[in-house]
Amino acid sequence: MICNNLTVNGEGHLCLGGQDTVALAAQYGTPLYLLDEDRIRERCRTYMKAMHEAFGERALPLYAGKAASFKQIYRIMKEEGMGVDVVSSGEICTAVSVGFPMERAYFHSNNKTDADVAYAMEHGIGYFVVDNREELDAIEKEASARGITQKILLRLTPGIDPHTYEAIATGKVDSKFGSAIETGQADEITAYALSLAHIKLSGYHCHIGSQVFDSDTFLRAAAIMLEFANQMREKYGLVIDELDLGGGYGVRYLEEHPEIDIAANIIAVGLAVKAQCMMLQYPMPAVRMEPGRSIVADAGMTLYSVGTVKRIPGYKNYVSVDGGMTDNPRYALYQAPYTVLLANRANDKSERFQCSVVGRCCESGDILQEHVSLPANTARGDLLAVLTTGAYNYSMSSNYNRIPKPPVVMLKDGKSYVAVKRETYEDVCRNDI
Ligand code: LLP
Repeated sequence: MICNNLTVNGEGHLCLGGQDTVALAAQYGTPLYLLDEDRIRERCRTYMKAMHEAFGERALPLYAGKAASFKQIYRIMKEEGMGVDVVSSGEICTAVSVGFPMERAYFHSNNKTDADVAYAMEHGIGYFVVDNREELDAIEKEASARGITQKILLRLTPGIDPHTYEAIATGKVDSKFGSAIETGQADEITAYALSLAHIKLSGYHCHIGSQVFDSDTFLRAAAIMLEFANQMREKYGLVIDELDLGGGYGVRYLEEHPEIDIAANIIAVGLAVKAQCMMLQYPMPAVRMEPGRSIVADAGMTLYSVGTVKRIPGYKNYVSVDGGMTDNPRYALYQAPYTVLLANRANDKSERFQCSVVGRCCESGDILQEHVSLPANTARGDLLAVLTTGAYNYSMSSNYNRIPKPPVVMLKDGKSYVAVKRETYEDVCRNDI
């Protein structure tokens, strides 16, 4: 199996975190998001330990909430001592509502509105990760009105292509995010930030991309960022206190994907950062990383009930399930690969057929996965599992076709509990007048 929290029990049922998915589907219904809390905590600890070892005790991993954002996840992050990366007032509200210590929250986004800026300050956001000059002006204005000094990081684009899908590559010079080092805009925005009375420029941020496997990506990014920081020290006397290297470590969606040893990677980045700081005689900054996917992706799985099985002789086979692009739009958006199997007969070695697993939306593009191999007798009532759906599934879900969102059920210590309730039809039309 692609992840060591997956097993098959004596009845041939797929288990996540040791718990029988057939029993969970019977208890909670389908479609159903499952999330293995033990796994999430284990990942947080891996990051925390490796970053402390690599960069010293001031280092802090920030969980990127965009991967999966709901109250319980922020409670877990609080308990694990993590920081968080938030990207909207909605994510801030979610974190605040469970008492997340907002001094450890970093507010991203390339277009924060004035209302966002005020809302974040109102709730004591630790840092704004500033994308552009207009945003600096908005923060300066709001901080001045409140009589505070606001800590910020500047988001820079170091110009690295991480070899991932185009839509999730963000560190290149032509990105919509941040200020490019190459064009001189990073230098300009540094000078401007330093000129503002109510802003404290604490450091720099970059994020190269997501689902990245090239192990040298962070090394190259860190080298470029430190080199730039050193130039800014020479030019403006600025010594940064924090360096945020962003998120992006890839996860295994398929057997053929490599498994990244995150701890070993971080230790390697740490050695390089320390060596470069020594060479430049630059004080070691407090390093941040912002993992989202690698914290939650393989803790997750989605269970569906099979409905229609349609064979079009000479053409194609379709297996339709009771969810689809509304709970997982990633194939429709990025042709993202997933491992798909029948959870109620995970060891079934009978004859197989090739099919497309599709959802129930009124749209041909509503595809969860193509070229899937399933038992040829797959039929209505079988339980289908899509693995590794913990990241960017629930958080990207929609109510297209007025389909209610599935619940998020978490697994911990051999027990399960609802972290997000299943939406009802009343929920779906709640805001209609
Ligand atoms: N930090 C920043 C500034 C980011 O933009 C992102 C992801 C992360 C951290 C977390 O990256 P991760 O560790 O999760 O790779 N919806 C897409 C992914 C978009 C990622 C956007 N930014 C997907 O479903 O693949």
